[in-house]
Amino acid sequence: MPREKVRYRCSQCGYESEQWMGKCPQCGEFGTFEKWKIKREEEKKEIPPLSSLKQIDLAPAERFSTGGEEMDRVLGGGVVKGAVILLGGEPGIGKSTLLLQVASKLCERGNVLYVSGEESPSQIKLRASRLNINEERLLLLSETDVEIIAEGINFLKPIAVIVDSIQTLHHPALESPPGTVSQVRECAFHLINLVKPLGIPLFIVGHITKEGTLAGPKTLEHMVDCVLYLEGDGVHPWRILRATKNRFGSTNEVAMFEMREEGMVEVKNPSLELLAERDKHAVGSAITAVMEGTRPLLHEVQALVTYSPFPQPRRMAQGVDYNRFIIMVAILEKKLGLKLYQQDVIVNVVGGMRIEEPAVDLALAMAILSSVKSKPLPPDLLIFGEVGLGGEIRSVPWAESRLVEGERLGFSKALIPRHNLKKITPPPTIKVVGVNNLQEAAGVIQEEW
Ligand SMILES: Nc1ncnc2c1ncn2[C@@H]1O[C@H](COP(=O)(O)OP(=O)(O)O)[C@@H](O)[C@H]1O
Ligand SMILES: [Mg+2]
Repeated sequence: MPREKVRYRCSQCGYESEQWMGKCPQCGEFGTFEKWKIKREEEKKEIPPLSSLKQIDLAPAERFSTGGEEMDRVLGGGVVKGAVILLGGEPGIGKSTLLLQVASKLCERGNVLYVSGEESPSQIKLRASRLNINEERLLLLSETDVEIIAEGINFLKPIAVIVDSIQTLHHPALESPPGTVSQVRECAFHLINLVKPLGIPLFIVGHITKEGTLAGPKTLEHMVDCVLYLEGDGVHPWRILRATKNRFGSTNEVAMFEMREEGMVEVKNPSLELLAERDKHAVGSAITAVMEGTRPLLHEVQALVTYSPFPQPRRMAQGVDYNRFIIMVAILEKKLGLKLYQQDVIVNVVGGMRIEEPAVDLALAMAILSSVKSKPLPPDLLIFGEVGLGGEIRSVPWAESRLVEGERLGFSKALIPRHNLKKITPPPTIKVVGVNNLQEAAGVIQEEW
């Protein structure tokens, strides 16, 4: 006979306990404990037959295209049947837009169910007409009760389901409001268990908090097969779609979109797009190559060094890590003798992009040097390399791919770490100079001036 055992669980962080408590010992919230029933089977369990690794036949995952080349690439070559994909991103970044476009393309294969707990069908229609979407087979369901949604999926057996968003759904068996940890977990669990055996791919939208993590439990990320993030700075039209988890492919793939009035437009040649408005003879501008997964992207890094009227000059960095930038200013003062203590130093990555990679260091240093000397860097020069505290230039991974991307966009010179140069065969049309430290790098630039 199954016996029900009652436990209590914090609706904020998921902490479990035998007794009800007023204050959660894990997250410190008050009044968040709720009843949680666990069924206990008392019969003895049988061990299922074990499989030897050697005897398992690998059938390739059954995939189909989402109709968008970039989306397919990030998913590892299309969507796998029964896969659950979580799409995270800040409000207004374009999650609903992107998934509505995916849904419309998937309609070529059959009915697609678009469940929205946030918008009414007429609101969705409004967006759809702006995006020029008008599919007969796109079926809208404005519902938040996960059991009713499950009924809908069971009845329709669509070829794909989109749920926008998981934070708006609720399971009637739980007392806590939508968006709480237990609701998000239960609703996701319910839907995942339903679509897996039916082989229906499920796209779930998840909002992210101010801290940049998915609102709700971290367990949500463990429950799904793919976690995608849509990022952008909200000012520029560029959006980056990135996989941070993928059970069916690499997490290295990145896609770039431009958010336009008519929707998300795939950017096939991101480097070209990012350098489109560049002034080739601008002082304080350097071009670097940054890896986004396995794909090199060219970025423009800008620096402005100007006399400061303040006793404490300003240091501002957009798009690069502030601490790395401050360290770079100190290294430049120490190693190249630049006098920056009475100067404001401002750096920026064009297009609202963010560069996390240390490979940007050398370009940042040369952009600052260019601004200090009021001389533009050579317009066809590509720069990358990590700079150490001693001013030494350290090698970076994927040097050859970066050079090839530079060559593709017409760059004919490159300043790179000497250690990288030893191990690669650079493209023949690029004159590559390897340097060991900042002084050598500055020397190479000064020869050009
Ligand atoms: N009429 C419009 N023309 C152009 N862009 C619009 C229009 N209406 C909304 N948008 C853009 O669409 C964005 C909302 O996208 P949406 O897909 O709803 O984001 P999310 O689902 O991530 O919250 C808004 O931030 C806005 O920039
Ligand atoms: Mg939305």
